[in-house]
Amino acid sequence: MLTKIHHHLPDENATAACGAALADCLTPGLMIWLHGDLGAGKTALTRALLHAAGHAGSVKSPTYALAEPYRVQHPRLGSLSLLHFDLYRMSSPQEFIEAGLQDEVDGRNICIVEWPEQGAGVLAAPDWRITLTYLAQGRDFTLEACSERGTQCLNRFHFAARL
Ligand SMILES: Nc1ncnc2c1ncn2[C@@H]1O[C@H](COP(=O)(O)OP(=O)(O)OP(=O)(O)O)[C@@H](O)[C@H]1O
Ligand SMILES: [Mg+2]
Repeated sequence: MLTKIHHHLPDENATAACGAALADCLTPGLMIWLHGDLGAGKTALTRALLHAAGHAGSVKSPTYALAEPYRVQHPRLGSLSLLHFDLYRMSSPQEFIEAGLQDEVDGRNICIVEWPEQGAGVLAAPDWRITLTYLAQGRDFTLEACSERGTQCLNRFHFAARL
């Protein structure tokens, strides 16, 4: 079974295609950690994932709210809840608890977390750890499956990067 994949994403269209491909592999309860510098493409990837998962409206970075919920009709899974977290502005992991966000991580909601480092100790362990890295041109995308569930989902992933 595949546990780690890597793709070069030459431009933002490739990031969007990659996010859409990720949407095909989801399963309820999946915890996704997104690593990468400011502007690396974490929100862009999430936006494409949410649209492909069935969300029709806009996707803004939830920097001030810490989390933004989405209820979608997923093409394969049907009715599905996803939560997009951005913990960048959290001053301590305690804030995560005080905001009641642990209740949202209920084993059914799919959680996509930007800046998971900020939630160290309170945020549940990831099923997928995705890292976006700046290159001279485009970005590097790495996805590591960190659990049995994550591995099963990753093995549904089909993404053909353009050459
Ligand atoms: N593969 C790519 N190559 C070049 N530019 C890209 C690529 N993918 C996305 N971008 C661009 O990079 C920027 C990514 O911004 P985005 O808000 O998604 O970053 P972020 O990682 O969420 O940052 P933050 O940590 O501030 O939330 C956008 O301007 C987007 O168009
Ligand atoms: Mg972002």
